[in-house]
Amino acid sequence: LLHLLDGRPLVLVGMMGAGKTTVGRRLAARLGRQFLDSDEEIEKAAQMSIPEMFAELGETEFRSGETRVIARILRDSDIVLATGGGAFVNAETRALIKSVAVSVWIKADFELLFARVSRRSNRPLLKTANPRETLRKLIAERYPVYEQADVTVVSRDMPHEAVASDLVEAVI
Ligand code: S3P
Repeated sequence: LLHLLDGRPLVLVGMMGAGKTTVGRRLAARLGRQFLDSDEEIEKAAQMSIPEMFAELGETEFRSGETRVIARILRDSDIVLATGGGAFVNAETRALIKSVAVSVWIKADFELLFARVSRRSNRPLLKTANPRETLRKLIAERYPVYEQADVTVVSRDMPHEAVASDLVEAVI
């Protein structure tokens, strides 16, 4: 039996709306690990919300903060980490994740993602004149990068619980 995880942190990557946080929490519970969410940790460190950070500091500052926070989180290995959708796309952050963790891409198709992100409007990147088009563009740019994750799980219309079960099977 292959133990892919082998004491390493497990890091979930993928688009906003893919279910990284929900799946991550369930996965952490099943693995008996601590769950962390990089967006939440960045908000705590900066003492402001992500939309505030984008508005007041800009995306570049947000990304460097994101890299620092993820580097700090990944010093701990007994964890499951859900990352913000852009984290793995950043070369520095991706290299860091690839070097110490097992990365899992939660892949979902456009309609599912769009339906999910439309329910919550806290994503500054989608505050554009045509969010559908923006999401399409982000998907086209990012999928080839997410493909570099160690494991891919396709969420389709599976409940998050089923995705978590599949992942437990895949990594243990
Ligand atoms: C982003 C995704 C968000 C958050 C920020 C930027 C992105 O996280 O980090 O709004 O670039 O895709 P979620 O993927 O958790 O929504």
